[in-house]
Amino acid sequence: MRKMIMAFVALIVATSCCTKAEQACTEGCCKAETNQVIETIMERRSIRKYTDQKVERELLDKIAVGGINAPNGMNAQQWEVRIVDNQEWLKNITEAQRKSAEGTPMAKQFEDPNLKNVFRNAPAVIFIAHKPGPCTQVDCGLMAGNMMLAAKSLGLGSICMMGPLGFFSKPEGEPFLKSLNLSEGYKLLLCVGVGYADEEPAARPRNNEVIKYID
Ligand SMILES: Cc1cc2nc3c(=O)[nH]c(=O)nc-3n(C[C@H](O)[C@H](O)[C@H](O)COP(=O)(O)O)c2cc1C
Repeated sequence: MRKMIMAFVALIVATSCCTKAEQACTEGCCKAETNQVIETIMERRSIRKYTDQKVERELLDKIAVGGINAPNGMNAQQWEVRIVDNQEWLKNITEAQRKSAEGTPMAKQFEDPNLKNVFRNAPAVIFIAHKPGPCTQVDCGLMAGNMMLAAKSLGLGSICMMGPLGFFSKPEGEPFLKSLNLSEGYKLLLCVGVGYADEEPAARPRNNEVIKYID
């Protein structure tokens, strides 16, 4: 009888706290160590290997809307978001970048037999543009952070990238930039690749010494 009571108590404790990311989170969700948001933050990693599974637009919508709900200076919202899940577009820009890199040190990345596209192989890419202003780069970084955490919480992998964007300011990149249809005065700043992860990379080490209390 005592064992049964103990097992019952253990069950109540286990299910009343959010111990796993997929467990429903209600009523403020317990302590920091068992909090679903903290868990999502700590478990998110940059993903550079994805399955070929298409990302449902319903999920991409949730990620994008999560992004534009990020805090931003004076709520000016000087940003634009473009989502590309067209595999032909991703293939074409990869081929154009490959051609453009011929004979340069950048050509090496195209030798990878597993290369699917220049956006670390993500099957969907969310481009973030800003109208340059005092807060807009920070705003867009916060937006990308929201997007990556939203993706993780929806069972998707993601990666923030700036590297592949240099191409858009080259003459060969112009048609691709044009196809993103950004408003006058807006500049590409970041992109976030999204897809179903095909790897589980370990966390890259962080230096906790940078955090100090000033008493
Ligand atoms: C602003 C920014 C730009 C980045 N650009 C690239 C990139 O071009 N290519 C890439 O593979 N990773 C890129 N990353 C991902 C970082 O390399 C990654 O976040 C970092 O190594 C920490 O690893 P983690 O995200 O798995 O914690 C970028 C990240 C940020 C925040």
